[in-house]
Amino acid sequence: MINVLFAAKTERWNTYETPLRTAFAEQDLEVDLRTEFPPEDVDYIVYAPNGDLHDFTPFTRCKAVLNLWAGVEDVVGNQTLSQPLARMVDYGLTQGMVEWVTGHTLRHHLGMDQHILGQDGEWRSFVPPLAEDRRVTILGLGTLGLACAKALIGLGFPVTGWSRTAKDIEGITCLHGPDGLREAVSTADVLILLLPNTAATENTVDSQALADMPEGAFIINPGRGPLIDDDALLKALDSGHIAHATLDVFRIEPLPADHPYWSHPRVTVTPHIASETRPSSASRVIAENIRRGQSGEPFLHLVDRGVGY
Ligand SMILES: NC(=O)c1ccc[n+]([C@@H]2O[C@H](COP(=O)([O-])OP(=O)(O)OC[C@H]3O[C@@H](n4cnc5c(N)ncnc54)[C@H](OP(=O)(O)O)[C@@H]3O)[C@@H](O)[C@H]2O)c1
Repeated sequence: MINVLFAAKTERWNTYETPLRTAFAEQDLEVDLRTEFPPEDVDYIVYAPNGDLHDFTPFTRCKAVLNLWAGVEDVVGNQTLSQPLARMVDYGLTQGMVEWVTGHTLRHHLGMDQHILGQDGEWRSFVPPLAEDRRVTILGLGTLGLACAKALIGLGFPVTGWSRTAKDIEGITCLHGPDGLREAVSTADVLILLLPNTAATENTVDSQALADMPEGAFIINPGRGPLIDDDALLKALDSGHIAHATLDVFRIEPLPADHPYWSHPRVTVTPHIASETRPSSASRVIAENIRRGQSGEPFLHLVDRGVGY
């Protein structure tokens, strides 16, 4: 019997219990799945960082901590964690992000607000450029950034991607490292942020990066709040240099009611809903990793604790 501790909020247990049991059965894994165990009996922990478990020390025989979220910033620095940590790479999460990013890119590209918000009896003509004439840059070319890049390329947008390590991906202008950032943002008519939150990515979009962006550019941030210097962005929005920012993630969540983003005419706030882990597909990822752990195969989607993602 494999003892799996589900360590997340109670409402998550209600959502995940059945899909997890189904996924374990599909893999022929004999699992005792519970929300409580004596720590020394636990083989694997299915984990969400916003739950109550923060001290991994007593879990002496635990083979891996399997995160339910793609972002690991709230657990990667936990000094009590000596076990391997896997992040979530889930088909449903990726597809949801592709749909959200594509939708918000098209909103700005097509100028949809002019018609949705401007029904005032005036017959205005507005012809947007074709996608091939609107340059998109995606900061972060990992699971989510790459999937979004492919979808946007499919719609005709020229896509530049920026990552930490060098890449060569057909159809994408690939840039990397601090030197590549300036070029990446300077061609960004639409800038999409899909970087993890690490010490190295904080304030990637600062006053310099914003100044380097083309006049009238759009920013879409489904990555993490700290990627943006908020004061610098507000200034760039006030001046009109940045035409609009669609922001899904913030340094403090929920975004405080008095935050200037809520009332700024050039900002759209969405409440960290860009994409969610989907229980059925995510449970299959968890089950596959437990199968691997049991058969001595390498775990999927391991976090590099040194770089923080
Ligand atoms: N809003 C939401 O609902 C939501 C949902 C899911 C995820 N997210 C966010 O999306 C983020 C990305 O997820 P993912 O699964 O695509 O992550 P991932 O596969 O780990 O990809 C991260 C990408 O960022 C790049 N990167 C990391 N540090 C960098 C640096 N210092 N400079 C330049 N590039 C850097 C990586 O470069 P390399 O390729 O060279 O390693 C990689 O391309 C998550 O961390 C999370 O914060 C948000």
